[in-house]
Amino acid sequence: MTEHFGTIESHPVHHAGAPETYAPSAAFREQARINDPSVYWRAAEDPENYWAEQAQNLQWTKPFTEILDWSNPPFAKWFADGELNVASNCLDRHVAAGLGERVAIHFEGEPGDSRSITYAELTHEVKRAANMLTSLGVEAGDRVAIYMPMIPETIISMLAVARLGAAHSVVFGGFSAESLRARIDDAEAELVITSDGGYRKNRVSSLKPTVDDALALHGGGSTVQKVLVVERTKNDVTMVPGRDLWWHEEITAFDGDHEAQGFPAENPLFILYTSGTTGKPKGILHTSGGYLTQVSTTHKNVFDLKPETDVYWCTADIGWVTGHSYVVYGPLANGATQVIYEGTPETPTWGRWWEIIQKYGVSIFYTAPTAIRSFMKLGSEIPDQYDLSSIRVLGSVGEPINPEAWRWYRDVIGAGSAPIVDTWWQTETGAIMIAPLPGLTNLKPGSAQVPLPGISATVVDDEGNPVGNGRGGLLVIQRPWPSMVRTIWGDDQRFIDTYWEKFGDQYFAGDGARLDEDGDVWLLGRVDDVMNVSGHRLSTAEIESALVEHSSIAEAAVVGASDPTTGQAVVAYCVLKAQQELLTDDNAEAELKKHVAAQIGAIARPRNIYVVAELPKTRSGKIVRRILKDLAEGREIGDVTTLADTMVMSTIQDKIAARQ
Ligand code: WTA
Repeated sequence: MTEHFGTIESHPVHHAGAPETYAPSAAFREQARINDPSVYWRAAEDPENYWAEQAQNLQWTKPFTEILDWSNPPFAKWFADGELNVASNCLDRHVAAGLGERVAIHFEGEPGDSRSITYAELTHEVKRAANMLTSLGVEAGDRVAIYMPMIPETIISMLAVARLGAAHSVVFGGFSAESLRARIDDAEAELVITSDGGYRKNRVSSLKPTVDDALALHGGGSTVQKVLVVERTKNDVTMVPGRDLWWHEEITAFDGDHEAQGFPAENPLFILYTSGTTGKPKGILHTSGGYLTQVSTTHKNVFDLKPETDVYWCTADIGWVTGHSYVVYGPLANGATQVIYEGTPETPTWGRWWEIIQKYGVSIFYTAPTAIRSFMKLGSEIPDQYDLSSIRVLGSVGEPINPEAWRWYRDVIGAGSAPIVDTWWQTETGAIMIAPLPGLTNLKPGSAQVPLPGISATVVDDEGNPVGNGRGGLLVIQRPWPSMVRTIWGDDQRFIDTYWEKFGDQYFAGDGARLDEDGDVWLLGRVDDVMNVSGHRLSTAEIESALVEHSSIAEAAVVGASDPTTGQAVVAYCVLKAQQELLTDDNAEAELKKHVAAQIGAIARPRNIYVVAELPKTRSGKIVRRILKDLAEGREIGDVTTLADTMVMSTIQDKIAARQ
C-alpha cells in the first residue's frame, strides 16, 4: 500500500509511463481526519474488529456482543444481538449532546424559497410524524412506499418510518405508474407517502396523479390502505375519501413526544429497487446496525467531514441509493449540516448550483460525472462568476469519471487544489467501498483506487483467481462488509444466483476492473446487461420488455451505447409486427420513446430507436447485441460470421444510414 502515500507536494507528478498523480497538500494532510496510513493495515489485520470499533460510534440501546455471523453464507448478520434505533441515532442523540441548534438541512426550493431546519426542529418533526404514522397503523416490520420530490418531508418521512422499526421503499419520483405499482406490490406496502407535486424545470411534477394511476392499475386492488399527501405546490389533486389524507391536516393532532424504541441490528431499514439483468427490478434489502455503521464511517472518512464547520452537499435524488446513504443516513448520523436542493441544475440558469454553493458556503460537494460533463461543455465562465472558495473536498459517484472531467472539476470547481474522491459502490453495497482517503491518497484521475479500510476488494479472472497488478478482470469483494445487501426482498434464490453463484463466497459486483502497477483499481463499466445512463442503472431486458408490450412491436433489442455526456445512452432496435397499422417509419421513433417513458419512466427513454426488418441472430436464435452495440457506437461492426443470416446487418446499416 505504501506507494499511495508519497510526498507532500501538491502538484501533479508526471513520469514517463507513469499515470499523473496528485498528492494531498501538506496543509490538507495536516488537518485531515485520517492522515496515518497505518489505518489500512490495522483494519486489514482484523476487519471485524475494525468495524466493531466503528459501530461503537453509534448509540446502542442494547450493546452487541457478536460482530459478524457468516455461518450461513451468503446471508450475513452484523452485530446481530445488539439493538438500536436508527432515527434517534440521526436525531435525538445529537440534540441530547447539545447540538440541537445546529442546522441539519438548508433546503433550497427550485422557485427560490428556502428553509433551514435545525437538529432540534428535525427531531421534533420526525417525532410528530412517527406519532401520525402510528395512528395510521404503521408498525415495526411494515413497509411504507415513499414517492416524493426533494423536500424536507421526504427525509422526515423516511426517518419516521425508521423510528417505528418499519421499512421504507423510496421510489424515484421520475418513475411511471407501472413502475411504482410494481414496487408497491413487491414490497406489499400498506401506506404511500407522496405530495401534490414538486418543482422541476419550472413545472410541477405530477406525483399524486401517478400514485392514483398506479393504485388503479390491475383492477385497483392493492395492499395500500392509505395515501398521505404532503402539500408542496398547492396545485389541484384529487383526494379519494377514506384513502387519501393531507399530511398538514393529520399532523396537527400530534405533538413532539415520542420515545424511540431499540430494534435488532438486523431489522430491515429499507428496500430499494434497482435494475438487474432481467426485466424485473430487484428489491435490495438493507438492515439497520451494519448499514448505519458503514454509511456514517465512510461519510466521515472519505469526505474528511468536520461536522462543526463543514457544509456538505450531495446532489443525488433521495430516490437513489446515494440519496439514502449520503443525503439521509450518513450525514445525519454524523450530525452534519447539509444542503438539499429540489430542482434541476439549469433552473433558472446553469449558474444555479454554484449560486447555492456560494450562498451556503458549501465545503464538501458530491455529484456525478454526467453533471460535471454537462457543465464542462458550457465552459468555466458560468462557475467563474461565483465565489466557490468554501469548497475543500469534491466527490464523484455513479460511473467512472474521465480524466478530462476530473481535471476540469478540480481546476474550475475546486480552485485547482481540492482533492477529488472518486467513490465506487452500488445499491447492493449500501456504502462506499473503493475510494481515496483525501488526506492520504495520491490521487489518480479516473481511478477509484483503494478499497477503504476494512474492505477487501480485488480483480479476478473468470475462475475467481486474482489477476495481479497490471491486469484486468472482474471486480469482487472478498469478505462480508457491514452495509452489504442482505437479500433480494422475497427472493433469496435470486440473491444467491445473482451475486454468489459465480465465485462462491466472493461477491460478484458485475463490474469489469483493472489493477494498475501500483495495485490501484480502475473501474471499466458493467459486464452484464445493466446500462449506466447519467449514473442511473437501467436494464436492457427491462426496456426490451417495455418495447414488446407495445401492440405494434414484434421484437426488440436494446444496447447501451457510449455517449459523451450521459456516459451511456439507450439505443433500441425494433421489429414491427407484420399486421400493424399504428406505426410508420416516420412516427415510430417518437411514439416508441413516449411508450418507454410511460412504461418505466423518463430516465429510460431511448436516445435512438431504429425500426429494422430483422435482428441479427445466431443460428440458435440468440440476438447478437455485441454487433448492435458496435453499430450504435459508430464502430466498424465486428465478426458477423456467427450470424444465421450475414445479410441482416447490411440491411440494418443501410436503413440507419438512410435515416441519418
Ligand atoms: C457504477 C450507485 C465507476 C458501477 C452508487 C456500479 C461506478 C454501478 C462508480 C452501481 C465509480 C458507481 N466508478 N463506476 N466511482 N460508482 N459506479 O447501484 O458500474 O446506482 O456497479 O449505485 O454504478 O450503480 P448504483
